[in-house]
Amino acid sequence: MPDIPRPLLLLLAALVALLAWRRWAPVSYWYLLVFPRKAVWLRWTWRHVASGCGLTKKRHRWWFTTVPGLVASTGVVRVKRRFQRVAVDTKPWMSLPRPVRHGFRITFHLLDGQIPDDYAKVCDRLAHAWRIEAVRVVGCRPGRVTLQGINRDPLAHATPALPPVEPAEGWQAADLLRPVVGVLETGAAWRMDLRLIPHWMNAGATQSGKSNLINALIVGLAPQPVALVGVDLKGGVELSPYAPRLTTLATTRGECVRLLADLIAVMGARMLACRYAGVRDIWHLPDACRPIPVVVVVDELAELYLTADKAEKDEVTRTATALLRIAQLGRAFGIHLVLSGQRIGSDLGPGVTALRAQIGGRICHRVNDPETAMMTLGDLDPDALVAARSIPPELPGVAVVTGSDGRWSRARSGYVSTTAAEQAADAFAHLTPSWAQVASSGLGHELPHAGNPQLAA
Ligand SMILES: Nc1ncnc2c1ncn2[C@@H]1O[C@H](COP(=O)(O)OP(=O)(O)OP(=O)(O)O)[C@@H](O)[C@H]1O
Ligand SMILES: [Mg+2]
Repeated sequence: MPDIPRPLLLLLAALVALLAWRRWAPVSYWYLLVFPRKAVWLRWTWRHVASGCGLTKKRHRWWFTTVPGLVASTGVVRVKRRFQRVAVDTKPWMSLPRPVRHGFRITFHLLDGQIPDDYAKVCDRLAHAWRIEAVRVVGCRPGRVTLQGINRDPLAHATPALPPVEPAEGWQAADLLRPVVGVLETGAAWRMDLRLIPHWMNAGATQSGKSNLINALIVGLAPQPVALVGVDLKGGVELSPYAPRLTTLATTRGECVRLLADLIAVMGARMLACRYAGVRDIWHLPDACRPIPVVVVVDELAELYLTADKAEKDEVTRTATALLRIAQLGRAFGIHLVLSGQRIGSDLGPGVTALRAQIGGRICHRVNDPETAMMTLGDLDPDALVAARSIPPELPGVAVVTGSDGRWSRARSGYVSTTAAEQAADAFAHLTPSWAQVASSGLGHELPHAGNPQLAA
């Protein structure tokens, strides 16, 4: 065996140790080795990057400048220094980068006339300049904006784990109607916050992960004191396994029309209850007489809008009107919609466009046609459309979702098999309120007559 020089051996051993560190402990490798180097580089190159991305501003400053003076008789040009006003490029002030698990966060002070959207628009340019996967705006305060750089796509490598199913008595009141359904690309939990955004649209091509998201939602909501109502016009094959935890399941268009009419009647009763109590919504009613919140899960929205003959047209019109009324008024009276569908385009009928305008929460999985992406996300940001259209088929569950701040972000639902969701539905079947309970709650209890005395009388 040839004699390998000792320094070369040491170098090889160090290299192997580094590779092993990176392979087996990527988090500490990032925090201790890569991040400090990256932080210095980010600060060092910020002037050029800001200028390249159009984030600098010209400002006039008093400055010493050198100007060529007279040519002396010897032929030498005499240089003069003058104190004068010149236009200089000013870059936004950058905080020290802070490491996070999959990247880093940096806060910038906005220059005069800049708004956080100016940074949101150049996120792609920043990602390329910083040689990372993506950059997102993750927060803003007056005069400040915080960006998160994402080193590698956390959604591409593993399906996120959901928190364990809580026992019925274990859930926190603050989590009511705010189930965790997956993880955002920033590493934060993806909460589908129905209290903040009452209605959600869940769009995507076949096999993109829509039903998996419904499973995650059912697992998250099953232990909570809410009524789950299903509308499954695929003959019930998607939602019937969860029937023990569903108060009602409509599997035909006729059943759906009747169910929506009943929900509107419930909404009317709740309106009356709120009027008696002199409050604007059920969340201001005392706990003891607050009606049970209802979450209506619809799988394959398009089926509700398709008509084969004239007779069906009337049903479709009634369904569209009822959905629109619930979308408009449901928030105040605790009736929430989660609408899933492969195609949510205007060709389904004018009702869909009107309905979309009332649905604040948008989730767009991989889509086949630009129009569905456009219908789901088009009024958000053109970059969101590009992000949705570039979701590859081998990453089911990945979606572009709207946040509470109106911005979008990529996310992935936690994998929940039908069996796991079925088990959760069985385990919490005893919490399923009957239709009578849903319909009577609110008016069935004695309400305080804090409001209109005439109504109280
Ligand atoms: N977050 C996820 N992680 C891993 N696998 C997932 C995830 N979401 C969905 N899948 C897998 O992708 C496949 C399709 O998912 P799903 O049935 O939810 O699609 P879909 O959009 O409802 O399709 P269809 O429109 O045909 O009903 C399933 O095999 C499911 O296990
Ligand atoms: Mg499905």
